[in-house]
Amino acid sequence: SNQPTSPKQSVGPDYRDEKQKPTATVSTAVPFENVHTLPQTPQLIALLTMIRDKNTDRADFIFYSNRIIRLLVEEGLNHLPVVEHAITTPVGRSYAGVQFQGKICGVSIMRAGEAMEQGLRECCRSVRIGKILIQRDEETSMPKLFYDKLPEDIADRWCLLLDPMFATGGSAIMAVDVLKSRGVPENRILFLNLLASPEGIENFAKRFPQLRIITAFVDQGLDEKNYIIPGLGDFGDRFYTM
Ligand code: PRP
Ligand code: URA
Repeated sequence: SNQPTSPKQSVGPDYRDEKQKPTATVSTAVPFENVHTLPQTPQLIALLTMIRDKNTDRADFIFYSNRIIRLLVEEGLNHLPVVEHAITTPVGRSYAGVQFQGKICGVSIMRAGEAMEQGLRECCRSVRIGKILIQRDEETSMPKLFYDKLPEDIADRWCLLLDPMFATGGSAIMAVDVLKSRGVPENRILFLNLLASPEGIENFAKRFPQLRIITAFVDQGLDEKNYIIPGLGDFGDRFYTM
């Protein structure tokens, strides 16, 4: 195929000699300011190695994906605005801090996106969560919208859109169109995903230039069935039914 090869990088702590570090494939660079890729740390690369492996069983797949999801949520929250917040400590001193401003909600693209809800709840207690059921046609890869249920006041909230796999971008584009039709401005949507394809990012970033994408890894591309490569296979199947 004519896919570009993904970059390789030496991985490991800095006290190790460059020559001693192993080399691993890291996220492909993309030329869009609204795309934020998690730092390609040894932790993240090792976690992704676990979930990409076809021999990883379901229990491990769930465990390691949850760890990556947690990193994504923590990074996503860094993109929400904060205001000054001064407090007094138990020893009577003041500390000039910040606190989050504004309301948020999660919106998961079912089924695979539901796997990211727990990670969001662990970081944001009692967060509201909306659902959008979109399924990709197995033959044509075209997304189909079946159902949505979203918080009434979603237009006043920051939306964390959740879907682990960002392949052609068709499903995510459809979900964003639903959010926009309910009055959510594009610049208040953060799309969190584990694996993205350069093609999906390109489609999406051009269409929604103000929407932020937070991804763990931009992979090499798509195969003839529009699966992400090297990828990890069907996320929903591996998390829920395999
Ligand atoms: C998968 C995945 C995304 C979508 C990505 O879902 O979870 O929603 O495909 O592909 P796209 O970017 O090309 O649209 P699928 O429709 O297979 O349903 P599932 O979540 O139930 O597995
Ligand atoms: N959905 C998945 O679960 N995996 C892919 O590679 C593409 C879409």
